[in-house]
This record gives sequence, structure tokens and C-alpha cells, in this order.
Amino acid sequence: MTDASSLTTEALAAIGRAPSEDDLARIDQEYLGRKNGQVSRLLSNIAQLLPAEKASLGKAANEAKRAIEAALAARRAELETARLADLAETEAIDITFPGPPPERGHIHVLTQVRRQIETVLESLGYQVELGPEVETEWYNFEALNIAEGHPARENWDSFYFSKELLLRAHTSPVQIRAMQRIKEPPIYIITPGRCYRRDPPEATRLPYFSQVEGLAVDKGLTVGDMKGTLLYMIQSLYGRDRKVRVRPSYFPFTEPSFEFDVSCGICGGIGCKSCRHKGWLEVGGCGMVHPQVLRSGGIDPTQWNGYAWGFGIERMAMLKHDVDDIRLFYESDLRFLEQF
Ligand code: PHE
Repeated sequence: MTDASSLTTEALAAIGRAPSEDDLARIDQEYLGRKNGQVSRLLSNIAQLLPAEKASLGKAANEAKRAIEAALAARRAELETARLADLAETEAIDITFPGPPPERGHIHVLTQVRRQIETVLESLGYQVELGPEVETEWYNFEALNIAEGHPARENWDSFYFSKELLLRAHTSPVQIRAMQRIKEPPIYIITPGRCYRRDPPEATRLPYFSQVEGLAVDKGLTVGDMKGTLLYMIQSLYGRDRKVRVRPSYFPFTEPSFEFDVSCGICGGIGCKSCRHKGWLEVGGCGMVHPQVLRSGGIDPTQWNGYAWGFGIERMAMLKHDVDDIRLFYESDLRFLEQF
């Protein structure tokens, strides 16, 4: 039978070699476990011994227990210190090292294009004029010479709150508000803003989009003045090599009315896939302000005349950056937005 002192020697050696705190726990159990531990087993036949032998065996077992406990505690402390030193080494943080730069956002491409348009036209003396997105039926239609029941109303299929109130279908109502506010021509304004129409989302249209409309009211303005202004704007935005053209069209609030096209930037006007082989890209509508519209704005059409245009900002951004799907502007996909 092993005696207490050789048991102690054996245990201390095992503890000294133990590579981890888990191993120590196992050794603790093996020697000091209450039922089956080696030290308890030393005492298993103590009942048969003489009283003097009992006392000395009990004492020896106690000493063995204390020695093993002390060795376990010492080795535990050692392993713990080593583990912390290791952590300090591997997880060290240099607090003087500069951190990664925070990610920076930037201005949305539609805002960039709107601001560019504003800057160009402001340089010509136009002022930015804003109006409400919830409009009355009068400003959105009636004042613009689009009477109730007129078939042209179908071109601006609108969201109504009531018979009287709707989400504006274009920024043209701001023309009327501006004339009423400014009263005395000359008036040179642009009206950037959000518009709403009952169009299902697809590659070329959305139920909400932005327009920038321009209005000039002065004496003796001509289609040539309008075309020159728009040519200047287009070349400032897209480059000096772009050409513009107007084609006859119809709007109730202008007479004569035109569609406004810009030469394709990819093929230079020869015709290619991106302009569907036309050489031209449609940008919006324009024309000479209808006398009835001047009257709605409180301006005497026998004294003054004017021109106006209305372009989609998304459309202008698509032409500038060769984007072929208008929905991309509103999907907030950073892979798209980060390109601009
Ligand atoms: N308001 C028209 C539209 O939304 C555009 C336009 C404005 C046309 C001014 C001519 C003159 O379709």
C-alpha cells in the first residue's frame, strides 16, 4: 500500500508538470476527491488499526492533503499569471495607433444634378422658387389652362386627397404662385421640386420624381431666347459638343409648345443603342407661356410675354451619367450611389 509521503511526492510531481488549469482540476479530483481520491483511500482500513497507528496515519493523511492543496494553489497561480502574460502579448492594443477613418457619405447624385442646374441658371439671373407639394386643384390644373373635363388632364394622372386637394403632378403650379408673389415682371425663376403621378414604377418612370421648371416673363421674349437659354444650360451640364432641338408638341399652358431633345452623348447624334438609333434624347417640354396662364398669375398678357420649360431631374441625371433605370436613384444601393 502506498504511504502518505510517496503519495505526496507523486502528486506534487504531477502538479508541477500540469500544463493547464483543466489538468489541475483533474489532479485535484484524483488525489483529494472526497470519496475516491487517493488521500481518502489511505484511510479506508483505518478501523482495523491500533489507536496509536490511527493517530499517526490520520496526521500523515492530513499533512499530505495540505501539501497537495498548497501545491495546487501555487501551480494554479503560476498558470494564471502565464495566461495573463500571454493575453497581454497577443491582445496588445497600441492606443497611439490611428484608427480606421470613419466612412464618409456624400451628396446624393440627384441633389448634385439639381444643384448644378441651379448654379447654371442662377448665373443667368434666375432665382430658385419653391412651392407646396400638396396643391389645390386650381394651381395644379385650372390656373394652367387645364379645365376640368379637359382630356389633357389624363396626362397628369394624380393622387387626390379630396376634390380640391392633390399631390402636385408637376412643378408648373409654382409658376402661378411666383407670378402672384413677384407681381412685377421681369420674372426669371426656376422651380425644383418633387412631383407625383399615378404611374407604376418602371425603368423610365416612377410615381414620384423631381422636376425643375423654368419661367421667364419679360417684354418681347422669343422662342429663340428660350432655345438659347436651354442650349446654354445643356452645354454647361453635358459639355459644349451637345446640340439641342425642339419639336412641335402640345401643352395647355404653352402656345406654341415643344418637346425638347438633346443630342446623344454616346454617338454624338449619329444613332446608337443608347438613343435607340435616333441620335436624340428627350429631356422634357417647353413653350411660350399661354396668355391665359399669365392672366392666372395676375400679369397682363398684352404687356408681357414669357417662356417656360419643365424637365425631369432624374431624366437629366440619367442622361448625364448614362443610367438606364430611374429606380436606381431611389433604391439606396451604395454600390450604385458611391459611383457619383
Ligand atoms: N409641366 C409639364 C409637365 O410636367 C412640363 C412643361 C413645363 C412643359 C413648362 C412646358 C412648359 O409635363
